[in-house]
Amino acid sequence: MKDKAILEYEGKKYEFPVVEGTEQELAIDIKTLRSSTGMITLDPGYKNTGSCESAITYLDGEKGILRYRGYRIEELAEKADFLEVAYLLIFGELPNKEELNQFHEDIRQESHVDEEMKKILDAFPKSAHPMGVLSSLTSALIAFNPSSVNISSEKEMYHAIIRIMAKFPVLVAWTMRKQKGLPLDYGDDSLGYVENLHKMMFKRPNKDYVKNKIVIDALDQLLILHADHEQNCSTSTVRITGSSHAGLFVSLSAGISALWGPLHGGANQAVLEMLEAIEADGGDTQKYMNKAKDKEDPFRLMGFGHRVYKNFDPRAKIIKKAADEVLGDLGIDDPILSIAKGLEKVALEDPYFVERKLYPNVDFYSGIIYRALGIPTEMFTVMFAMGRLPGWIAQWREMRLRGEPIGRPRQVYIGENERPFVPLKKR
Ligand code: ACO
Repeated sequence: MKDKAILEYEGKKYEFPVVEGTEQELAIDIKTLRSSTGMITLDPGYKNTGSCESAITYLDGEKGILRYRGYRIEELAEKADFLEVAYLLIFGELPNKEELNQFHEDIRQESHVDEEMKKILDAFPKSAHPMGVLSSLTSALIAFNPSSVNISSEKEMYHAIIRIMAKFPVLVAWTMRKQKGLPLDYGDDSLGYVENLHKMMFKRPNKDYVKNKIVIDALDQLLILHADHEQNCSTSTVRITGSSHAGLFVSLSAGISALWGPLHGGANQAVLEMLEAIEADGGDTQKYMNKAKDKEDPFRLMGFGHRVYKNFDPRAKIIKKAADEVLGDLGIDDPILSIAKGLEKVALEDPYFVERKLYPNVDFYSGIIYRALGIPTEMFTVMFAMGRLPGWIAQWREMRLRGEPIGRPRQVYIGENERPFVPLKKR
């Protein structure tokens, strides 16, 4: 039994239980704070607020640790494939062969997207950002799968999960093909999940698709590294949307919108655009470091810093190594990789970054690999969404199964006090 936390205010003492997680993280349980004291807590950006108890992902930002369901990210990235990791995140255990085959078979049965969805895609201009298109298509799927909306049993939940795991890669591929002017394709169910995704994205109408193992393995690893990251901005959005009992697909669509921002998943696109701008500007990394440090300049070093990692992001370490290997294996000499490494070296020695504990995050090197794999820059965040899909699903499922209450933060009002209405002619 942990000690209680005591709050003292205006001569009165209030006691609150302290909750301990399985990794000895401590939290003050303030469920009764308002009813006992009349006060609330104020924590913009939720920097100190735990929104839930969760058994999915553990991370220690100080030590640079990330584990899915207890398994180290380094081990999963090396030894598992994306579909196994998706199963692990969603259902809590690594699947045995039979379970994995069944999971994959169920997904294959649902891999068709209604032809009418193509009309919706058609209505978007080619210039539309793929994240906006993906979010809209994910939401539109509800109209074609109405039984996935009101979920009252685990069986219905399973079906909704299978449907979105099956249809989402098709939407991802269509989003890119639309932009590139390629005919839409349904892929090939005889292939592995990630290989099929790759084929759907890249198959040309006048050419046979040839599998490249280096490319598929790199893509698989990137998807695993993005698969979950506990209560980040998009995941919290998925959970809070779903907490009103909105369906899975629309909760995911909300999560995709949240991921789009450059301070979150959109950083991978922003990093590459930044590296390209530095290259076009003569490769002077110091100039951009100075801009990032200048408080008068809105420029930030994209791909650096993280709300919870105050040490190396373990995913960034894996991706940096993978970037070297993939570019080497594919025989690509990308000057942008050297610029990124140069920038990282300068930043890691610069007191501004050292004092603020700003390290490269998952997005710093991922864009370089995506680019080597032939994925257009505007699609980078879509690839992040593809990877994050099982994490969002797992978090949504956990929230629903635990019967969590609707998410509804409070506020401290700082506006006008009551005042009389002034008629228009007197204003
Ligand atoms: N470049 C320059 N300075 C930075 C950067 C950066 N990338 N990141 C943080 N800082 C500075 C801030 O200006 C602030 O300085 P101050 O204390 O002198 O005011 C200090 O470091 C703390 O930064 P905050 O913005 O308060 O940290 P917060 O936790 O709110 O933000 C965030 C984290 C949004 C990731 C931030 O580091 C950032 O904007 N990074 C660049 C965008 C990015 O790469 N996002 C992807 C994150 S990973 C992901 O979502 C998948």
